[in-house]
Amino acid sequence: MSSSDNAERYRIAELREQIEFHNYRYYVVDNPEISDAEYDALVLELQDLEADYPELVTQDSPTQRVGASVSGVFPPVTHRRRMFSLDNVGTTEDLTAWQNRLARVIGREPQAYSCELKIDGLAVSLTYEDGQFLQAATRGDGVTGEDVTANVRAIDSVPLRLQGDPPSLLEVRGEIYMPISVFEDLNARQEELGEKPYANPRNTAAGSVRQKHPGTTADRKLSIWVYQLGYLEGGPVLKGHWEALSWLRSLGFRVNPTSSLVNSARGIVEYVQQALQDRHAHDYEIDGVVIKADALVDQEDAAFTAKSPRWAVAYKFPPEERGALLRDIQISIGRTGAVTPYAVIDPVLVGGVTVTTATLHNEREILRKDLRIGDTVIVRRAGDVIPEIVSSIVSKRLKSSCPWKMPTQCPFCDNAIVLPAGEAKHRCTGGFSCPSRMREYLFHFASRSGLDIEGIGYQTVDLLLESGLIRDPADIFAIDYDQLREFEGWGEVSVSNLSTAIDAARKRPLARLLTALGIPLVGGTTARAMARHFGSLERLGEASTEDISRIEGIGPEIARSVREWFLDPETAALVEKLAAFGIRMTDLPTDSATSKILDGVTVVITGTLSGYTREEVVAAVEERGGRIARSVSSNTSVLVVGESPGSKLKKARDLGTSILDEVAFAELLTEGASRLEI
Ligand code: IVH
Repeated sequence: MSSSDNAERYRIAELREQIEFHNYRYYVVDNPEISDAEYDALVLELQDLEADYPELVTQDSPTQRVGASVSGVFPPVTHRRRMFSLDNVGTTEDLTAWQNRLARVIGREPQAYSCELKIDGLAVSLTYEDGQFLQAATRGDGVTGEDVTANVRAIDSVPLRLQGDPPSLLEVRGEIYMPISVFEDLNARQEELGEKPYANPRNTAAGSVRQKHPGTTADRKLSIWVYQLGYLEGGPVLKGHWEALSWLRSLGFRVNPTSSLVNSARGIVEYVQQALQDRHAHDYEIDGVVIKADALVDQEDAAFTAKSPRWAVAYKFPPEERGALLRDIQISIGRTGAVTPYAVIDPVLVGGVTVTTATLHNEREILRKDLRIGDTVIVRRAGDVIPEIVSSIVSKRLKSSCPWKMPTQCPFCDNAIVLPAGEAKHRCTGGFSCPSRMREYLFHFASRSGLDIEGIGYQTVDLLLESGLIRDPADIFAIDYDQLREFEGWGEVSVSNLSTAIDAARKRPLARLLTALGIPLVGGTTARAMARHFGSLERLGEASTEDISRIEGIGPEIARSVREWFLDPETAALVEKLAAFGIRMTDLPTDSATSKILDGVTVVITGTLSGYTREEVVAAVEERGGRIARSVSSNTSVLVVGESPGSKLKKARDLGTSILDEVAFAELLTEGASRLEI
């Protein structure tokens, strides 16, 4: 898998999470945080990505949710000819390979290629009947798009009536975009109004094309570049794409003048190089170059693969780098007290996103790159990954500048910042008294990998901390709900949902509590191994470093970190407080009745489990009165699935057997057969 696929995968996951969060704010809390247009833009971006990567579509994607999709607002349009996307290449070698393949397929060298800028906007198809604008549709999945006629009509550069001698039926394709200047003005206005800025021109354009009010689309001053003939009836006989483009221009369409017709591989490479050089010289964003075999007969002979034409290809630009002023270097304190410096830069559009901050990892990294406040720095963003500062332009450095130094005092709690021997990261010594650290700690404690308390994200953490309703994680279990009800957005329903979620968190298996406690170096796998070995927080707390490092997979470093954590008076007090609030801290059966919690349960395993050996699984199940079987049958109660499962998984699915992953299996061991009824 290429790195851009990874970036896409990452972005898809991120979008799904954001959309779900905003669905919740809108439908559940009835207190949306973003406008409909911003929401629409997120959904649209996800739909686009899923159309490009159908293998990444999952059942739980918000786009698959019946009714939640905003696409219901716009009637579907079936494209007369499928709207294909393009294959990407990233190097000139790949480009040559594409050319060679094309020549092989059609049995000759194409005589000419049309080279065009790849506009980063929203693909649309426009239909004209007898010269009259009839319909505009988004690409959708390529076969069916959405009817956005009313909104596209509001875009000034879309001709409503064609000039010259229009054909009886015409369908053209192009890219709607928001000019960068318009985007910047829009964001300046947002700032004046104290509103959140829009993330990038592409999403803002997509959002306004899918607005429910065409007036807003007009306000947004979008524009279009038309780059492809889709379908034609009753028009001139055209021999080439280039000829088609100039004919479309004569009809009044906006066709990009930077395109070039070249007749050699060298010509293509020169165009690409020039386009890269001029990447930022336009009032619109581009993310590459599109190369098309010009002769229509070549296009017909080359035809299409399942996804894209063989006669065209997109050369994608490498990760974008921009210069920006490094205004400041600030620090944030993580959940363990670790200090992470980050760059505050003047807003700069990189790879389609306005970047204002970038992580700098640690002091050593800043010194290595010799980044100084006031420097002009190079900011890079590859695909959808987190932006980074590559280097500083030393020639532009001010004489007065000096190397950056880590503050000696935490800006949030005034306690000392120190660099523990042998570590790369500084630490705030304020412990739980540091508000910044506590905020992160609480967020982690309640997060999905911790005690999984739904409804406690950063916003709720901030409210709870600022209002004094809680001061540490244990306080979550003693929230005064009457006081909480007094805050805006905390009606009966939200309060009751939160209290239900908190009550459920009181009884989570030990491994989850251990992860939630945020012991440095202890993640889910280590937590599960320790929970299984010791069975209770008390026993783990009493264990020596040697005892702990005896567990397979746990080295002395982790063992030491665990030991230190329990010896720290602050964390020890937290454990005591959690115990006093009745939070479950043991997986050990408390009496003989609960020790046979898997009585009558037959377990089958497939694949490799990361936290258990096969013997451990057998022992754990049998100790609890359960039985292990080799194959799935109608008598199987549960199939536990690890890495690389075998055919047992399909069998279990066919039979409707309960299927558990490793985490759920750990819960089965602690909660017993009742876990299966949920
Ligand atoms: S031609 C069959 N030309 O890039 C040819 N596309 O991944 C179809 N795009 O969906 C497209 N600038 O949204 C073409 N000059 C250009 C383009 C262009 C941008 C977009 C378009 C398409 C995507 C291909």
